[in-house]
Amino acid sequence: MILNLIKPLNFVIKNVFLFKPHLYKMIVHNLEKAHSILNQFITEIRDVNIQKDSLRFRRNIERIGEILSYELSKTLYYGTKNIKTPLGTKDVNTFNDKLVLCSILRAGLPLHQGLLNYFDKAENAFISAYRHHPDNGDNFEVIVNYLAAPSLQNKTLILADPMLATGKTLENTLRALKDYGSPKQIHLVSIIGSEEGVHYVEKIFPKNTHLWIAAIDEKLNSRGYIIPGLGDAGDLSFGTKL
Ligand code: URA
Repeated sequence: MILNLIKPLNFVIKNVFLFKPHLYKMIVHNLEKAHSILNQFITEIRDVNIQKDSLRFRRNIERIGEILSYELSKTLYYGTKNIKTPLGTKDVNTFNDKLVLCSILRAGLPLHQGLLNYFDKAENAFISAYRHHPDNGDNFEVIVNYLAAPSLQNKTLILADPMLATGKTLENTLRALKDYGSPKQIHLVSIIGSEEGVHYVEKIFPKNTHLWIAAIDEKLNSRGYIIPGLGDAGDLSFGTKL
């Protein structure tokens, strides 16, 4: 009897804490706490014994992108339209938003593919950014040197960065996109973030920005990598670089 009362209460408590508008000014959807198949994919990309299989790693990132797309799709603007089936007609709900998916090369490619698998009619933007360590030490600056984007004016911009570490890459990306028009809504999509990175981007992005994220980890190391994180998402997807 008591167990029957505790179960639904547990569910309510868990779901209230999924959504933390009191901690972040942005609307943060941290999907980590909900028990779902997402946890399995996150576990596999973190686990040193599994993540080295790069085909599996990329596909897991893609699958996480698909789940985040599905969750994000619940906040788009829907309208009713009447369609014809072979046997009749039906009023259906479809979203009206004009989506632009923007990803950062190269680590962002599998996540971009996951988003595109679901938002298949979206326009696309790509930007390249890399960390330049001027003195070969821990300090780095983020350099943006390639950008191809459609107009963003009045569109819904979905900006994907698999590892939201310091937040500097997203900041530089937002700055680089400013000449492409003003989106009416921005959604950030990340797989793993750091507390510090989430707080940093909330200061930079408009208040109504949504962040869809599969896990938020505690800290960064001195080189700006997320701890415990998963390592280097670009290298795990595409191999090490010089
Ligand atoms: N980029 C990565 O690939 N991993 C991190 O932990 C941080 C940035």
